[in-house]
Amino acid sequence: MKYGYFDDQKREYVITRPDTPLPWINYLGCEAYFGIISNTAGGYSFFRDARLRRITRYRYNNAPYDVGGRYIYLRDDSSGEFWSPSWQPTQNKLEEYSCRHGMGYTTISSKYKGIEASTRYFVPLDENVEIWQLNVTNHRPQAAELSVFSIIEFCLWDAQDDSTNFQRNFSIGEVEIEDGVIYHKTEYRERRDHFAFFACSEKIAGYDTQREAFLGPYRGWDNPAAVERGHCSNSVAHGWAPVGSHHVKLSLEPGETRQINFVLGYQENPRDQKFDPPDSQIINKKAAKAVIAKYRVAANVNAAFEKLRLYWNDLLGLCQVDTPDVHTNRMVNIWNAYQCMATFNISRSASFYESGIGRGLGFRDSNQDLLGFVHMVPGRARERIVDLAATQLPTGGAYHQYQPLTKRGNDDVGSGFNDDPHWLIIGVGAYLKETGDWGILDELVPYDNAPGSETPLYEHLQRSFRYTLERLGPHGLPLIGRADWNDCLNLNCFSDSPGQSFQTTTNKDGKVAESVFIAGLFVLAGSELAEIARHRGLAAEAATYLAEVAKMDATIHKHGWDGEWFLRAYDDFSRKIGSKENVEGKIYIETQGFCTLAGIGLEDGLAAKALESTRKLLATEHGIVLQQPAYSKYYLEYGEISSYPPGYKENAGIFCHNNPWVVIGETRVGNGDAAHDYYTRINPSAREEISDIHRCEPYVYAQMIAGRDAPTFGEAKNSWLTGTAAWNYYAITQWILGIRTSYEGLLIAPVIPKSWRSFKARRKFRGVTYQIEVQRAGDGNKVCLEVNGAPIQGNLVPLPPAGTKIVVVKATLR
Ligand code: GLC
Ligand code: GLC
Repeated sequence: MKYGYFDDQKREYVITRPDTPLPWINYLGCEAYFGIISNTAGGYSFFRDARLRRITRYRYNNAPYDVGGRYIYLRDDSSGEFWSPSWQPTQNKLEEYSCRHGMGYTTISSKYKGIEASTRYFVPLDENVEIWQLNVTNHRPQAAELSVFSIIEFCLWDAQDDSTNFQRNFSIGEVEIEDGVIYHKTEYRERRDHFAFFACSEKIAGYDTQREAFLGPYRGWDNPAAVERGHCSNSVAHGWAPVGSHHVKLSLEPGETRQINFVLGYQENPRDQKFDPPDSQIINKKAAKAVIAKYRVAANVNAAFEKLRLYWNDLLGLCQVDTPDVHTNRMVNIWNAYQCMATFNISRSASFYESGIGRGLGFRDSNQDLLGFVHMVPGRARERIVDLAATQLPTGGAYHQYQPLTKRGNDDVGSGFNDDPHWLIIGVGAYLKETGDWGILDELVPYDNAPGSETPLYEHLQRSFRYTLERLGPHGLPLIGRADWNDCLNLNCFSDSPGQSFQTTTNKDGKVAESVFIAGLFVLAGSELAEIARHRGLAAEAATYLAEVAKMDATIHKHGWDGEWFLRAYDDFSRKIGSKENVEGKIYIETQGFCTLAGIGLEDGLAAKALESTRKLLATEHGIVLQQPAYSKYYLEYGEISSYPPGYKENAGIFCHNNPWVVIGETRVGNGDAAHDYYTRINPSAREEISDIHRCEPYVYAQMIAGRDAPTFGEAKNSWLTGTAAWNYYAITQWILGIRTSYEGLLIAPVIPKSWRSFKARRKFRGVTYQIEVQRAGDGNKVCLEVNGAPIQGNLVPLPPAGTKIVVVKATLR
């Protein structure tokens, strides 16, 4: 069952009923001002940091779901009847409803008793504001006397403190109102240099800024007193809960449409220019007023939207494909790329599932995310790499997370996740292959952000590599530390106290438990580093890396192979995990995927065998589960993985992030049918038809789909912010379609299904547009290339002379 449809022409998903199984959200903002918005206008906004600069308030895990938003109420002043054109919060039965989630904007439209209302929400580029562009049309045969009310609830900036510290917060809220604009200035009197403002393009009939005045005592958002009675009370918030509401009166002739623009913004002032007059406590509103004046003009709003549309046009235009599969096309050309940008901007901080207060930017996560967005925003990718590397520690280890606002490593979580350093090599490798910007390696970057500790970025990579060599366990495999990629395999934790963090509790000295996953990662990262060293003219150094890689490969063969698949780890007693010797958790996906992706066992058949076991033991119709059999009870020595009920999350859920590793593994053994089949099983567009089972948005990947051990097999959770986005994008574009960046140039190495006769692609790479056409002339994956009409040997398209704009590539598969 579906709740809408894809409009690929417009790059929108159109939701046709408001009661989706879960709030289906979108993101607003691409640079510094961000927001999430659901299909019923729920959500919130923040400046850069969802925890430390929260602009509006939201109530997670409420009943009903998704409370707090960018709400508008319409009221028929002749009858007193009122409704929400976005359905929530009043939930009137609307005659028509649609929500169009597009690239950086959302339009919610509806019709109720002959009054049509359509609101387009977006954040203009280069500006710290969001705009609600409301059009109201009267389809009645007679004139309509209407009232429009806007409402948002301000958050007192620090979202964590805001939701816990009421003894202080009920006393500190402050606002100013000037020319109908509501300014939120809590804590501006002391150490904050920023405030928020909420303006309206029309002359207002009244306003409210105190929540209780607007709602009335003991009332909710579904029934505000001000709307019921038809006017605000011009309340001024002193403490309690500052809100912003404008009341606009609207007389519409039959057929008439009127536009109202609401502008919600964030403004910082220089510390010495906070007040105007300077010796007062009144906000200096100069900069804010200029922005407000601009967006009170409808033409400027339209121009800003057009600019945003072109921005996305350009970004997505960098890689467009035309294959026989609609789901592949739609995800690659539109939604998967778009989701990759969301993970770049938001990392894992703010979604319907991530509260915006828990995590900043993850070292592992953000480095992997690069794989999906580096081609779209290489300049910003470079910046991200430098920020990440600056949170690396002198040991080569890394802070697991950092706050985007301060760019400082997060002490609560600390370091000790022993896979972390290698992801920096993978991230930098992806950047170099895409851009050829070798200069980044000479960039001076500190450790732990400590001034004076700077070394060239290249040395950060060297230290990343050595980090593992200095931490090998009894079998010569890497010690796992707090966890590797799987945050929930906590082999040094041994936690028996409720509420203890599995990630930061360590009760063992960490000298025994080893990770075969990190070993596979080391092989991949080490090979990348060898290539990078070679390019830097360090042939001898490259050879030492390759020697270590070969040694690790041999160790995996000796101590990391279980006979039919790769082992997962050794626990603190040096007992195997992910082995036929185990009763539960006999086989894990991570090592099957990552070792084959890294090319381990390609020659001697181990890779093929591991993939065969994966197919037999882990693959389901909804995707590949993380391990089998699921853990049926808590294992003190394994940690969080066994804390989840069977079939959920890391305990045998379909953890979508690692499915593309198997997809890439399948391409490495030349099996395009299997690769694309796995790709399709978790492709959200291909799952649209079962939206009632899947329940999450059909246009973006979710982190998890419940596995076959779960009572809700096939149900997705944690959509949007997941490494799944980058890895799937990377798997489909670079490994299945085989348009692959390399240090030397663009490789063409498709491993596509046998039934595909051809596909086309347009890919911008290092400033040149490659027009690629791939034809099948046989069942295999052998590539014969023609570049600009001339046949060439091998499958690397030589870098064209400077100034070249277009390169035409024809590949025939035999
Ligand atoms: C979450 C984390 C990621 C981790 C994964 C597996 O998605 O963000 O860092 O690798 O879970 O535990
Ligand atoms: C939990 C989740 C895991 C996530 C981690 C982040 O352990 O199960 O997916 O990566 O939290 O800290």
